[in-house]
Amino acid sequence: MTVSPLSASETQVRKADHIRICLDADVQCPQNTTGLERYRFLHCCLPELDQADIDLQSHFLGKPLGVPLLISSMTGGTDQAHRINQRLAAVAQHHRLAMGVGSQRVAVENPDLRETFAVRSVAPDILLLANLGAVQLNYDYGLEQCQRAIDWLEADALILHLNPLQECVQTRGDTNFKGLLGKIEHLCEALPVPVIAKEVGNGISGPMARRLIEAGVSAIDVAGAGGTSWARVESERAQDPIQRRLGNTFADWGLPTADCIEQIRAIAPSLPLIASGGLRNGLDAAKALALGADLAGLAYPFLQAASQSEAAVEALAEVLIAELTTVLFCTGQPTIQDLRAAEVLQRVG
Ligand SMILES: Cc1cc2nc3c(=O)[nH]c(=O)nc-3n(C[C@H](O)[C@H](O)[C@H](O)COP(=O)(O)O)c2cc1C
Repeated sequence: MTVSPLSASETQVRKADHIRICLDADVQCPQNTTGLERYRFLHCCLPELDQADIDLQSHFLGKPLGVPLLISSMTGGTDQAHRINQRLAAVAQHHRLAMGVGSQRVAVENPDLRETFAVRSVAPDILLLANLGAVQLNYDYGLEQCQRAIDWLEADALILHLNPLQECVQTRGDTNFKGLLGKIEHLCEALPVPVIAKEVGNGISGPMARRLIEAGVSAIDVAGAGGTSWARVESERAQDPIQRRLGNTFADWGLPTADCIEQIRAIAPSLPLIASGGLRNGLDAAKALALGADLAGLAYPFLQAASQSEAAVEALAEVLIAELTTVLFCTGQPTIQDLRAAEVLQRVG
């Protein structure tokens, strides 16, 4: 078996770099878009609703949500990441949003860093998602490490992220993805919580979703293209000129988020489905939900807010909720379930 050569402290530096680069550099997709701009809601001039009665509540993987929004997996492992996670968790608890933490590999390798992820005491009631890179299953990780990540976080489910392009561009990335599907299948059978397969911004296609569903994953987060470009993030970090260039060449690589949702919904009408990648406001989130997602995830906007203060995260959550509410009101739909059933999203491009 190949052994990943990265030390725990190197993994920690990498996590700090990711936050700094995402905040300070322009690492959004330069040209590729989410595809959501091709859609427009059908306006209803007479909603016959009291806006105060609009209800955003829903469920995901059996857990109630105040709003079908997810703070996507981002960070952990450093003091700054700890502050960010605490701020995000407090607001998630207030509005009953779902929340993921960043890859817990750094804590598996150095258990002293567990506390930088621990948000359960701040957010006892939320849907909370653990996170590890699926490729680590080829580098000495197995059931035990996954179980630890879940237990330490008191998580409701485990996200396994799939990030082949990021690993190609990343300095000393882990690029042996051979045989992973079988290992994912084994984990799905053995773990006591649901497993969610997620990309990191390059998308999951319909055919790949089918293979992951057959392997036993309980849900998929498409994490499509159109938002944060991990090729660009890793290009900023890379010392090697080939990797720097790879990151620029592949900055726009991937399947737009809207295409992922459509492809997956076509083959798996009832699969619990998360849309993320490039969602930047409540209108984007509403479009993703109307296209068939059950939950809409945002990473970069929450990172920006959480790097400032808990009040900034609260302000962001409030505006996202106001935008979602406005979509429901102005399409005449009292609930998210009605919005999805009503076919009020029109393709215009
Ligand atoms: C600072 C930062 C760190 C991230 N770390 C992880 C991670 O550890 N695991 C993961 O699955 N995704 C990670 N992501 C990817 C996001 O969850 C998301 O899939 C991606 O950024 C696209 O969403 P966005 O366009 O809303 O940013 C990270 C994103 C950011 C901004």
